[in-house]
Amino acid sequence: MSLTPSWNRFLLLPMLTAVVAGGCSGYDSSFAYSERTTSLMPEAQDGFKGDTEATPAISGVKQLLDDRFGDPQDLKAWLKLPVEFGGTQSAVAEYSAVKGVATVKFSVDEGKSLPETASSVQFVSGAVAGETLLISNWDAVTGQATLEGLPPKEIAAGDSCVIDGGTVMQSGRVLYMRHCSHCHGTSGDGAGPTAQYLNPRPRDYRHGIFKFTSTKDVSKASRQDFKRVLQYGIPGTYMPSFLLLTDSEIHALVEYVRFLSLRGEYERKLVNELAGDFSQKAVATRTEGGESLDAIVAELKEMLAGDIVEAATSIGDGVAEDWSMSDTEEAVIVPTVARVPDSAESRRRGRELYLSKTLNCADCHGVDGAGNGPQTIAYEKNPITGEPYNEAGLHDVWDNLNQPRNLHRGIYRGGRRPIDLFARIHAGIKGSRMPSFKNTPHEDIWHVVNYVLSIPFEAEPGATGVPVAAPVAVAP
Ligand code: HEC
Ligand code: HEC
Repeated sequence: MSLTPSWNRFLLLPMLTAVVAGGCSGYDSSFAYSERTTSLMPEAQDGFKGDTEATPAISGVKQLLDDRFGDPQDLKAWLKLPVEFGGTQSAVAEYSAVKGVATVKFSVDEGKSLPETASSVQFVSGAVAGETLLISNWDAVTGQATLEGLPPKEIAAGDSCVIDGGTVMQSGRVLYMRHCSHCHGTSGDGAGPTAQYLNPRPRDYRHGIFKFTSTKDVSKASRQDFKRVLQYGIPGTYMPSFLLLTDSEIHALVEYVRFLSLRGEYERKLVNELAGDFSQKAVATRTEGGESLDAIVAELKEMLAGDIVEAATSIGDGVAEDWSMSDTEEAVIVPTVARVPDSAESRRRGRELYLSKTLNCADCHGVDGAGNGPQTIAYEKNPITGEPYNEAGLHDVWDNLNQPRNLHRGIYRGGRRPIDLFARIHAGIKGSRMPSFKNTPHEDIWHVVNYVLSIPFEAEPGATGVPVAAPVAVAP
């Protein structure tokens, strides 16, 4: 399931848009734009119509988003995305057009094989780059295809293309609509019809933040992390296990979640560029303050034609880069020391660290690990709006109540193996209030893991031996 090096090179080619052939009708649910997008002034959402050569159209946020990501009906394989769309990477070996019949012989790299069936081909380079051509007849042995009609321009030997590109995305989409969208929403906003009844809420993928990963604190989730979440679910929450799906179904879902998250984060960051000055609210304040609407519109037009185009490119590339990086070896947390064997001494040391002022786990999880530390009763303010929340306790970046885990229950959402807990303490739980302890020596993290794993089995709270009243000072 990993990208081959040659596929990677191919992703970086400058010509990057190929429309994936439609297929899969019957889902008329379109991607929604976020509420932040629809609260921008109309011109920022929709751009400006052009009429002549001299005044070309200028894209607004919706167009910029659709250009890269399309719609469920019309998925765009923006090949720069670190998503495996599916299909067979291929090249034109021979081309001929005789008496209105176009015949192409396709070749694949050594070690790869041609697909059994083929119904369309997307061109990535050459004169017809970006076009999807339909195949009317396919010979899997020779790789010879008859195209439906003539191509709009000449095809030449060496042109690179993808046969039946988008198959993984299409099946990911169908599976997602069936199994996930009622909780996570069609566009991954975490607000499907079932979502309002659940606590914690289904993940809103649009932040590009995932909680339970084996990757370092600044990284996104790896494909392997998503696979684990889909296979085992998130114990203690409404996120179910999909262990009954096949490997290739899970694979398609993982790619589709990556796609939705990329799209959502791109939209969010793009809107951030404009919301301050061009949200409907900001425009109302500006006009009340004496600015003319015409001047504001002119200012927006200049931005959309210039700075925003550049910002869109760098945001898109940045988000794509982050997701690619999360699948590399450097992103994964690897302890520098082997697991410290579980022993009474190690647990005792772990409890000292737990209570210490340096790690201060007790501040949130409570001195005995019941999830009732002092922080759980404080009233917090929403960091974005500055308004206090209506309920006491910690909140995550999605604004949901986010109380520390009761460690007596022995239910670990991100996996219960010692290495999972190591990663949890090292990276924290992203987007939540569980912080990263990446600067803590790895040996100490193992002691804490040993202590945490022992908590559900303690005869009485604090049985590890370190009294609560007199915490032992621990050197940083
Ligand atoms: C019944 C509702 C429900 C369904 C159905 C559901 N999820 Fe979830 N999902 C959740 C909840 C709730 C969470 C958040 C749990 C938490 O925050 O601890 C979640 C979290 C996730 C996460 C985030 C994991 C992380 O580390 O942050 C992913 C990815 C995910 N779900 C994918 C899927 C996919 C793919 C499907 C369909 C195959 C699916 N979910 C179906 C409720 C659901
Ligand atoms: C600032 C508050 C805070 C501190 C400090 C803190 N935690 Fe947490 N911790 C949380 C919250 C909140 C959660 C639940 C997050 C979620 O699931 O969204 C959590 C969850 C956990 C979990 C559950 C992991 C899982 O997979 O379900 C463990 C274990 C844990 N913390 C251990 C620790 C340890 C050990 C320390 C100290 C080294 C610590 N925490 C420090 C807030 C904190």
